[in-house]
Amino acid sequence: MPTKLCQVPLLRLSFYLALLFVVPISVVGQQDDARPTDAATNRFVDQLLTRMTVAEKVEQLEQAPGQPNFTPPAKAEELARSGVGSFLFFTDPVRINELQRIAVTQSRLHIPLLFGYDVIHGFRTIAPIPLAMASSWDPELVMKTQAMAARETRAAGVEWTFAPMVDIARDARWGRIMEGAGEDPYLGEQIARAQVKGFQGDYIGAPDHILASVKHFAGYGAAEGGRDYDSSDISDELLYNVYLRPFHAAADAGAATFMSAYMDLNGVPATGNTWLLQDVLRKDWKFSGFVVSDWEAVKNLETHGFADSPQNAAVLAASAGVNMEMSSSLYREYLPGAIKSGAFSEARLDNLVRPILAMKYRLGLFTHPYVDMDKFHRETLSTEQRDAVRIAAEQSAVLLKNDGHTLPLSKSLRSLAVLGPLADSALDTVGSWAIHGDRRDTVTIAKGLREALPNARVDVAKGVEISRGSPTIFDEQVVPDQPQLKDDEARKVEFDHAVELARSADATVLVLGEAQTMSGEAASRGSLKLPGEQERLMEAVTALGKPVVLVLMTGRPLDITWASAHVPAILNIWYPGTEGGHAVARLLLGDANPGGHLPLSWPRDVGQEPLFYNYKIPHNPRNVAKRYWDLLSTPLYPFGYGLSYASFSFSDLTLSSPDVAAGGSLQVNVKLQNTSAGAGAEVVQLYTHQRAGSASRPIRELKAFQKVSLVPGEIRKVTFVLPADDLMYWSPALHRNVLEPGTFDVWIGSDSNATLHSTFNVIESRN
Ligand code: BGC
Repeated sequence: MPTKLCQVPLLRLSFYLALLFVVPISVVGQQDDARPTDAATNRFVDQLLTRMTVAEKVEQLEQAPGQPNFTPPAKAEELARSGVGSFLFFTDPVRINELQRIAVTQSRLHIPLLFGYDVIHGFRTIAPIPLAMASSWDPELVMKTQAMAARETRAAGVEWTFAPMVDIARDARWGRIMEGAGEDPYLGEQIARAQVKGFQGDYIGAPDHILASVKHFAGYGAAEGGRDYDSSDISDELLYNVYLRPFHAAADAGAATFMSAYMDLNGVPATGNTWLLQDVLRKDWKFSGFVVSDWEAVKNLETHGFADSPQNAAVLAASAGVNMEMSSSLYREYLPGAIKSGAFSEARLDNLVRPILAMKYRLGLFTHPYVDMDKFHRETLSTEQRDAVRIAAEQSAVLLKNDGHTLPLSKSLRSLAVLGPLADSALDTVGSWAIHGDRRDTVTIAKGLREALPNARVDVAKGVEISRGSPTIFDEQVVPDQPQLKDDEARKVEFDHAVELARSADATVLVLGEAQTMSGEAASRGSLKLPGEQERLMEAVTALGKPVVLVLMTGRPLDITWASAHVPAILNIWYPGTEGGHAVARLLLGDANPGGHLPLSWPRDVGQEPLFYNYKIPHNPRNVAKRYWDLLSTPLYPFGYGLSYASFSFSDLTLSSPDVAAGGSLQVNVKLQNTSAGAGAEVVQLYTHQRAGSASRPIRELKAFQKVSLVPGEIRKVTFVLPADDLMYWSPALHRNVLEPGTFDVWIGSDSNATLHSTFNVIESRN
């Protein structure tokens, strides 16, 4: 592999001399594509450990922030020289090479650095947000999209992402709902597995792949009141049956690292939680990678009132099993002293360091530490990268409503108004957690439509502004887009102008929703209303009685109850990413068919939150308002819901047998027909319900799904194999996983309200 190193023979020579001095000869021959064996890895790490002082070991446990406001450049170099384990937030490959060269040639043991970064939905080429990716209900697509992200990331010299976030979120107020896969544990498991595989490839150290970090372990998504960073109080029943499941799936998929969460889980901070980090993660799930704390979460153990001093915080986190400390540096300051005083042992220190060194070895960093600049330029924003994120955006857009075939719009439109504060906003199009994305790379919806309709008049106007609120940690990107304060008169002129454009156009596309700063970290909302005057603009444009499409850009479900009753077509695109404008133009004009289904229950009103379909006590179907005096209890759109330009019918639900025994499985078949004149894909969803058990059972649980593409008129028999073991659950009455005999309902359809129904019996229990 041509590396920058190879262009600098003298350095290369000194590097290999250094390797020969500190590293067993066998490592020098390690190839990019050769998977190191466990034995070779352990031998290498053990030998290296014998050469390390306590201070050097502790240094490997530290991850320093690369942003100059946290760590000035000279300080970063000093850290590299003294053997710090890792940096986060470096993205410039030239700087990465400089620091790596210092670590590899000037630190005493020449141990390479590990560079981590939040590649949540893309590095430079931004894919749709994770909630959107989950809406694709296509794990294969999710895997491929994250593999592309990994490729671009690794080419820049970053070897580790702080993703996937697999926190189940049932509360749309929580800003970080946009980072996860929604509310369901089964869908969450599939998406978690796909992301780990996508980032890491077939094995840790696979070429063009990076390490994953599964976060935030565990329970962060259940923050009280949807308030970010608040405590989570989760019963064992919900922990085992809902919240832990995607984490377990990610561990099973071979995730290299986990991130311990900020908050306390049932009273014990996750970053000092021995039960979570040892009993569950390492003992039950056999996790052998390493755990990094969330940002300053070790230091925060004192804030939580869990540690009574910084030294105590370091010892508690290290004892619980947090291998690496992100951003704060209490390990460096206090662990050597704790070892001297006997408060922490060197053997335990070795156990913390071992998996970190092992990952560096498996990644091949000891032999290939530098960025290949040619490859970096080749991979960054390549056509392949752009195509991948455009396809992902098309497949994750959810068509919520399409009365009278308003969509797709005719390509022979003579004029189109594209209105709304998000219509031409590159920053918003990529969404939150796209920190390294550059807005200049981004295709806005307005740009995409202009390109796609070269012969039409496309008028673009904001109509209304939305205030972005207080800047977030990414404020340097946000500030330039801050709307200028306008007086009432100027606002009225802007509003009226937009309505006039709609009046004189053949059709209007309203691009409304949230600014990207309104979701993500530290961005919970107490209201789900369209911010600002957007609702008023929508009402005024809809009142014109001309074709209008609401394109919703958002990181969470919003209160669109008025729109769902009055606007003929609604396409929810979440935040679609770098190629969003091209994808949306193709969707609106019928060159692509929306492929998404909701990974969460879409509320009517914020008062319904938390809202989820797999609750336990059935609602009275004749009076769904009964649980609120002033509000229906049902969602506006159910979990799993999504339309297509094609239409489908389900029939002939059959089972291979009326009974299934423990260890056995059942075949469930259904006939799916494309009843329309266009090709399209349907997400065929299978739900079950256990009628009685040792504990109350959810009214429905998703157990399987398949995304099936059919040409017009095509009929396909879709078959699911349902293992009886998939009907097991953790019983709070018996405190263990059980499969209980009895009658089960099964439904198949296109969302969680599916009506095609049958029953079967589980005839033998396995405890
Ligand atoms: C977030 C993590 C993120 C880390 C580093 C924290 O504030 O909670 O999800 O990985 O920052 O950016």
